[in-house]
Amino acid sequence: MAGPLTGEERPGMRRLFVCSSPEELARAAAGRLWGIVRERGAAQEKGKGRPGGIAVALSGGATPRRFLETLAASPYRERFPWNRVHFFQTDERWVPPDDPRSNQRMLRESLVAAGPVPEGNFHPVDLSLPDPAASARRYEEHLRRFFPKSPGGFPRFDAVFLGIGSDGHTASLFPGSPVLEERKAWVAHAEGGAPSLGRVTLTLPVLNNAFRVIFLASGEEKAEILRVVLQGEGTGSLPAARVSPRQGRVTWLVDSTAASALPSRGSSPPGNGGDPA
Ligand code: 6PG
Repeated sequence: MAGPLTGEERPGMRRLFVCSSPEELARAAAGRLWGIVRERGAAQEKGKGRPGGIAVALSGGATPRRFLETLAASPYRERFPWNRVHFFQTDERWVPPDDPRSNQRMLRESLVAAGPVPEGNFHPVDLSLPDPAASARRYEEHLRRFFPKSPGGFPRFDAVFLGIGSDGHTASLFPGSPVLEERKAWVAHAEGGAPSLGRVTLTLPVLNNAFRVIFLASGEEKAEILRVVLQGEGTGSLPAARVSPRQGRVTWLVDSTAASALPSRGSSPPGNGGDPA
């Protein structure tokens, strides 16, 4: 099991696990989520932590698909506590829900339609509103109903799964975006991507209030940005490098091609991450 990237294990530290293939990355991510859900469920049963279900925020893009398909299939299909877990979006692109670029289309196909996610446990961004700014406000209102008490002023997701773009963006927080400096709103209208699109995104204070943040990265095209971010090369400005929960922990789950530019090869993920297999 790889140690933290720097220093001893403590909240706010980062851990790196290198998987041998995208398939092993998917299994490691599903196992990590299973472990977090068990940990948080146990805490809730003891009256600790936030009552009312376990909140997981999922990013879009292509990387999460295999992970979510793994979660929707055996053995998770039969054993994961689906009724206790609520799935939210970290961000959405302002395209129709059936557009191939839509993040919620990917989530519906790989998880919601494939796995036994109860009606009401998937919380998509509302794309029926006139524009992304209105949709961001609506999503924030929805989150405020789900997280009625938010000590510190921000919701605390139990797990946030993020990706990273080759430019260092994460969720829909892009380098140089004014949204990176948002300190009050939970959800914001952003612009970004290639070609640029309207976006709806969780803000940095929300990501940095999470109990656990898990970055997933796969493929050669992520090798250089992973090296830059994980080696901390003056990257305070890169959005992915600014995700560092004060009381949470960041885990990087990457495959060997994404890790190919890292000096230390890291280690394979722990056991089965607590998965039910
Ligand atoms: C988005 C995503 C974004 C994604 C990265 C990586 O809407 O673009 O939420 O943050 O995680 O762009 O995307 P891939 O997994 O497709 O490489």
